[in-house]
Amino acid sequence: MKGIILAGGRGTRLYPLTVSISKQILPVYDKPMVYYPLSMLMLAGIREILVISAPDALGDFRALLGDGKQWGLSFEYAEQADPRGLADAFIVGREFIGDSEVCLILGDNIFYGQGLVALMREGAELTEGALIFGYPVHDPHSYGIVEFDEGGNAISLEEKPEHPRSNFAVPGIYFYDNQVVKMAEELKPSPRGELEITDLNRVYLERGQLKVVRFGRGVAWLDAGTHESLLEAANFVRAVQNRQGLMIASPEEIAYRRGYITAEQLRALARGMANTSYADFLIQILDERQ
Ligand code: G1P
Repeated sequence: MKGIILAGGRGTRLYPLTVSISKQILPVYDKPMVYYPLSMLMLAGIREILVISAPDALGDFRALLGDGKQWGLSFEYAEQADPRGLADAFIVGREFIGDSEVCLILGDNIFYGQGLVALMREGAELTEGALIFGYPVHDPHSYGIVEFDEGGNAISLEEKPEHPRSNFAVPGIYFYDNQVVKMAEELKPSPRGELEITDLNRVYLERGQLKVVRFGRGVAWLDAGTHESLLEAANFVRAVQNRQGLMIASPEEIAYRRGYITAEQLRALARGMANTSYADFLIQILDERQ
């Protein structure tokens, strides 16, 4: 399976327009925002990844992530000239996807918690249909919403409904079989002018090919797209990391534990980070294994 990170353009909701920085490069506590979705793909076992962003932000991502070899991964980059919607990622990424299955994750979605790795691995093994998730939220008007029947089967999907039929939002991580490319090409733009991921998921639902798994209460799903949510996410990561002495979403750690890079490579990466707590953490991992 291949992976796509859909990162937006400039962080206009976080910064004045004159400051040219992509929000997914901004740190959530001690590491760039894009490391969080990237780590999720890595935990799913996905190593070929396409980063899609607005043209003027793509340079930031290339500078930060490179070709991926440093983490035993392979990164490609593609431009989304206008914000044409999430489902447009499959059109932009058509050649990259080829005849593979694909996981799409949004560049500002942060996931953490019990049971996630097993779900990611299940997603990465998908060969037919689609797998998406449901997560209870306080403000269902702001998301794609999934409704379940009494047996727990998904029965409807709506994008940012005025009168939500449930409080289960669909988080920004989606697994699809290869039909997704053709389905995305056949979608019509919504009234807000975008190719909606919810419309795509509805096609899978209507074909009886959509699986919706509810995340348990132990899973945290945060986004980091506003000042409030960015600070909340940073505080969350800081609290958990400081308490456990472990790091959330370190691509270096995952690459090392998965055997994508050697101890020597990890040591070299840590050395390149000078005197940071991030480097200290990586050295600690090396020490614990000796
Ligand atoms: C998008 C999707 C929505 C989904 C959300 C998750 O919303 O359209 O269905 O629930 O991401 O973050 P948007 O980012 O367009 O507000």
